[in-house]
This record gives sequence, structure tokens and C-alpha cells, in this order.
Amino acid sequence: MNKSEQLFGRAKKVLPGGVNSPVRFYDPYPFFATSARGSKLTTADHKTYVDYCMGYGAMVLGHSYSSVIDAVRSQLDNGTLFCVPTDKEIKLAEMICKVVPCAEMVRLVNTGSEATMHAIRLARAHTKKKGVIKFEGGYHGAHDYVLAKAGSGAASMPTSEGVLEEAAAHTAVVPYNDAAALQRAIEKDRGTACVIMEPVLANIGLVLPEKGYLNEVRKITQQNDVVLIFDEVVTGFRLALGGASGFFGVKPDLATFAKALGNGLPIAAIAGRKEIMGELAPAGRVYQASTFAGNPVSVAAATATLETLIEAKNAIYPKMAKTCDSIVDGIKDAISSAQLECSVNSIGSMFQLFFTGEKVKDEASARKANVAMFRKLFDELLKRDIFIPPSQFETCFVSYAHNEDDSDKTVEAYDEALRRVKK
Ligand SMILES: Cc1ncc(COP(=O)(O)O)c(C=O)c1O
Repeated sequence: MNKSEQLFGRAKKVLPGGVNSPVRFYDPYPFFATSARGSKLTTADHKTYVDYCMGYGAMVLGHSYSSVIDAVRSQLDNGTLFCVPTDKEIKLAEMICKVVPCAEMVRLVNTGSEATMHAIRLARAHTKKKGVIKFEGGYHGAHDYVLAKAGSGAASMPTSEGVLEEAAAHTAVVPYNDAAALQRAIEKDRGTACVIMEPVLANIGLVLPEKGYLNEVRKITQQNDVVLIFDEVVTGFRLALGGASGFFGVKPDLATFAKALGNGLPIAAIAGRKEIMGELAPAGRVYQASTFAGNPVSVAAATATLETLIEAKNAIYPKMAKTCDSIVDGIKDAISSAQLECSVNSIGSMFQLFFTGEKVKDEASARKANVAMFRKLFDELLKRDIFIPPSQFETCFVSYAHNEDDSDKTVEAYDEALRRVKK
């Protein structure tokens, strides 16, 4: 029995399902990690994988990025939690306001779920309406407002027990990339407070917005006094410095961030128009609070991350896109030489392969993918030292640390793995 199997046996006794987040489990047991550096993850069994899970997108600069680690280390010597304001929170908020198009004010929180939950509350308070519209396959965290037809780990669990039906009843779900469906849903429920969306769906595999779609969503929400929330937990600071909003040139009213903001430390943010953000307590009457919000360790990590991304943006984003493009080109060649019916979606530093010949443009088309084949691909890649998220309904992430060696090795592994999947 190897070490990971032993550890999983122990874990199952004290952690439900043996893990602390359902997406981490796969049959028969997941490998256990001991360390990570750059593009690589090392396991309890001393194996080293090229990592494309990258903390589900969080590790934009790569694991253990030196300036981030140095900033954390130096903060540790000066205290880890004050629960009174610090000048460092102001500096971080100022940086976010500088690079994020919609950000006039910022509230720091700890996780993406917290950010989306409070952004929705803010939108309800601002519009004095209750309804929420989300998109099929969009994932915004594990709270009651948004756990309907959600992606990520929830893709395998269409409804969660314990969700308050009364809360979920106010959430309507419409197909992505279909502006007319959104228009109809808003016309049907004049009580829509907000539309919350991942501008690029990254939790049902990777699905890109069709040309002009995000502009349409912006127009429809504006015309109907509906707050538009871009959930940029995945795309923020990753797709571009200004996130998907900067990339596509579409400005929402509010945006939520997490993952890449802290390059691996827990920190998240709600950002947006002053008029709405100013309604948060203690300035306004929308209650939101957290002991760990703006904690100095996470703030130090986020500040160092943003400093690096800002300073080296002309090197970082093109390098990640180039690495990603060369992997995707290689995967496409491997698909044709294995004579498989697949489609591949990619943008910036994100990609995913679907086992369907159909173009994947929304949740319904993503669901046509053969998940058994994907599972086989995952196993075959793992045998070749490549770790991708273990689900068809996730996205693979390239970091600044991935290099040509990694991409060559990855393409070779996909080439061999896809031939095995075909058999
Ligand atoms: C787009 C999106 N929003 C929100 C969340 C929830 O973030 P967290 O897991 O930090 O609560 C996630 C997590 O994967 C996400 O991908």
C-alpha cells in the first residue's frame, strides 16, 4: 500500500469523504501532496507532477513564488492578525482600484463564496429587489443563493440537500451565450436584483463568451435596472490584469475576486461602483463582517502578487498565453492523430478538452462530453506525471512558472494518453 492510500484510510475516519472539499476526491483515492514549487507538485509518495490544477487557478505566478513567500515571511515576524485597520489594506485596495475597470471601492473578504454572497446582498439592497439570475454551469461558491444548476463539484450534484428552498426560489437560471433567454427571464421577473456571471465559464469545463455576448448582457442589465456582477474569482488578475472585464472591455457594476489575488493565500474581494459599495456597513446599511478580512498575511501575499503582475504584466500574460497556446496546439494535433472526436476551448492561460465533437458553448453542450473517457484521460496523464483537475467540468490552468519543458512533456503525455483512451 502506498503512502497516499494509507493517508486516505486515516483521512476517511476523521474527514467526511477523506477530503476538505469534494472536488479533491477521485476514485479510488486522491494522491496526498507534501510540497509544491513553480509548476510542480510533489506527493507523499515522492512523485512529482506538472500541475495544471494550480490551486484551481489560484497559483497564477506558480507555487511558492519567491516575492510572495518573502512578503508573507516578513509579515509573520510582525504579527498575523490585528483586527484593526492597517495602511497595507489601503495600499492593496488602491492597487485593485487602479487595475480593475469597475473598481471604485473595495471590500476585502476571505473566500470567493463570501464575496459572491455579499455582492448579491448588496445588489438586493441597492435595487430593493430580490431576484438573482445566474447561468447554467456557472459556479459562485457553495451558498444557498447560487447552488442551482451549478458547475464545479456541484455539476455532479444538481441539487444539494439542506439548501433553503425559499432562498433558491429567488434564483433563476438561464443558458449562457443566449442573450435572448436572459432578456426573457428579466422581463418575466420584474423583481430581478442582479445577474451574476462568470464572464468566461470555468466550472463546467471552459466555455468562452461568443462575440458581443458580454456587451449584450451589459446592455440588457443596464436597461432594466439590474446590477451586473462579474464573478471574476477565476478570471480576475489571470485573464488579464483587469480580469475578463479588462480583457473584453465590458464593465460590470460589481465584481468579485479571489484565487489569483493572493497567489495561494486565502483572500478575496468585492469591488465596484462607489454608489453601491458605499452601502456596505459601517458606511451603509448592508451588513457584512469578518474577523479575518484584510488579515495582514493574506494582504501581504496579495500586495506582492499584484506588484509582480503590474510590474511584469508585459512578460507574464504573453508568456502564459504562449505556453497555453503551444499545449493546446499540441493537444489538437494529438486528437487528430488519435482520430478522436474532441473539442478544445482555450483563452489566455486556461484550457480544457471535451470528449465531444460538438462545439462547447454552454452547459448543455458541455454535458454531451463523454466523462468516462475524460476520467481515463486523467488516469493516463497521471501515469505520465501530469496532474489536471480530475473532472471534465473543471479547467486546466497554466502559470507563469510553466516553461517549454513542461509544455513539451505535457503534449507528449496527452499524445500517448489520448491513444490509450481511444483503445
Ligand atoms: C467562479 C467562482 N466563484 C466563486 C467560487 C468560490 O470560491 P471559494 O472556493 O474561494 O469560496 C469559485 C470557486 O471555485 C469559483 O470558481
